[in-house]
Amino acid sequence: MTGSGRATALLAAAGSGQRLGAGAPKALVPLAGRPLVEWSLRALAAAERVEAIVVAAPPEAVAQLERVCGPGVHVVEGGASRSESVAAMLEDTAADLVLVHDAARPLLTPKLADAMVSELARRRELAGLVAAAPLTDTVKLARRDGIVERTLDRSTLWAVQTPQAFRALLLREALKYGDLAAATDDAMLVEQRGGKVALHEAPRENLKVTTPLDLRVADLLLSERE
Ligand code: CTP
Ligand code: MG
Repeated sequence: MTGSGRATALLAAAGSGQRLGAGAPKALVPLAGRPLVEWSLRALAAAERVEAIVVAAPPEAVAQLERVCGPGVHVVEGGASRSESVAAMLEDTAADLVLVHDAARPLLTPKLADAMVSELARRRELAGLVAAAPLTDTVKLARRDGIVERTLDRSTLWAVQTPQAFRALLLREALKYGDLAAATDDAMLVEQRGGKVALHEAPRENLKVTTPLDLRVADLLLSERE
């Protein structure tokens, strides 16, 4: 029942941005002339395979986010953790396919969003599909005291991003039974229930704004794009 092959986008923007330390919700921090969240919103709005957009906002900033998002976008109150925010957005849609994205990744392109929804619609054996880039650093497994146990095989390691596309039914089930506070992405919860999740190679440029350094890099890249 993938129906139209189109998805509802769920944009997680309810975080407080502690590590960025801007003194305001990260979604509203200025980035290359616009509030950070607006970059992802524009990319999702321009994606042909995205038919609706739901946004999770910090409870105290719902009205502000509504102003930034404009009519046609539904803003809901986010939860205490990222996964709880995603669960709140999922309650707001009846779509068969959802594309979960973090507002903290403002370099999203409509092309990546469309490619991911098409691929999930086509590959019916999959529960989900995650954007991911090959690692460029060498990764070591270490004990708590800092002593290295071994070096991992980099050719099998991927840095996972958002967007992440899912069959809504399976994500809903995974969020219902999973440990939401411990999850660092949604796919993890789907995997834990035995759902098959595949990688969709995405550019490293689709970076996550976590620290002030990331914000500077994103600003540079987005200023070049315009
Ligand atoms: N997020 C959310 N609801 C939460 C926490 C996070 O919707 N309760 C969203 C953030 O808005 C962000 C994404 O999840 O788009 C990834 O989270 P992160 O980068 O950790 O953002 P913050 O939680 O805002 O930042 P920090 O952890 O530094 O406070
Ligand atoms: Mg966080």
